[in-house]
Amino acid sequence: MASFEVVRDDSVAAMLKKLSSLWRTRAAVNQELPEYADLAFDPAKQDFSASLLPFKDHEAWLSAPEHLKSKCLSYAWGIYNLKTIYIECDIVTPACEDLIKTPPSFSRNREIIQDVISEALLDEALHTRMSVSACNYIYSMRGIPALDFEDFNLVKWRDAALAECSAEWERKLTRFGIACASETLITDYLKTMAEDTAIQAICHQVTRTHAIDEWSHSSVFSFVAADIVQGLGRAERAYLRETILKTVQLFANNELGAWEKAFSLVGLPHYQDILNDVGDTNEIGVYTGSVEALIERIGLADTQHVGVVTSLPATGERKLETAEIIP
Ligand SMILES: [Fe+2]
Ligand SMILES: [Fe+2]
Repeated sequence: MASFEVVRDDSVAAMLKKLSSLWRTRAAVNQELPEYADLAFDPAKQDFSASLLPFKDHEAWLSAPEHLKSKCLSYAWGIYNLKTIYIECDIVTPACEDLIKTPPSFSRNREIIQDVISEALLDEALHTRMSVSACNYIYSMRGIPALDFEDFNLVKWRDAALAECSAEWERKLTRFGIACASETLITDYLKTMAEDTAIQAICHQVTRTHAIDEWSHSSVFSFVAADIVQGLGRAERAYLRETILKTVQLFANNELGAWEKAFSLVGLPHYQDILNDVGDTNEIGVYTGSVEALIERIGLADTQHVGVVTSLPATGERKLETAEIIP
């Protein structure tokens, strides 16, 4: 990877140190988590926010019997968490490992980057565990078979993007760009469920706990990205920007392959009509706004620009404040 003149930016180090000290007190991995058994299971409550379903207004869904809709919402919880698990294991974890093993060689913040990223990696292992347990809990309480699915478009696209890379720096930047975008977009992905107190208590609580951690991760990855961007040449910056923007399409993907499997398990009438009529992506506007803000925050808004990212501390503070107001 080409390296340019090192630009000292002590504010990045200061913010990463602040985030690391907050991690010690705030991260879920450092706290005692509630036992699922203590969160009363209410069979009458939905296991997933119906407003998030990409087919919520489709006639086949609206006219389906309530008991089948309820089963679909349990599988929506399953798909949502399975996708989360793939994001954690296949997208975020490899990028964390890259940064821990080989932090940016031009950076003065190598040590603190290894520190905060290894903390994030611990968080992601816990999130994976939380998702696995919460899925299995719902399958068990509802008495329905688990949904196995592995062909998520998000992961397939990442694999294809990596296969097209011709150099190691490109592969590393691709892994980082997709993970960095994911660490911002996952906050949007978790938001509705984290704020929906009407759904099953465990589903709300698990998502809320995850969302609080991800507010911090979004800041951590933004500051690390800003540090990395300072060492990139113009072409590399343009490549990273493009990778981050493309990730939106995949995050917003409706993953209809997983839904086809769920619908067939449930036996939802006319589900083929839903698969035929519903498009590939949903809520793309929400995700696009978030990555555009990320791109600006890390100094990629104008890929011609080379220099210090001066607006970072204020943006980072704003993220932290938002994390603090989650009830
Ligand atoms: Fe996570
Ligand atoms: Fe994360």
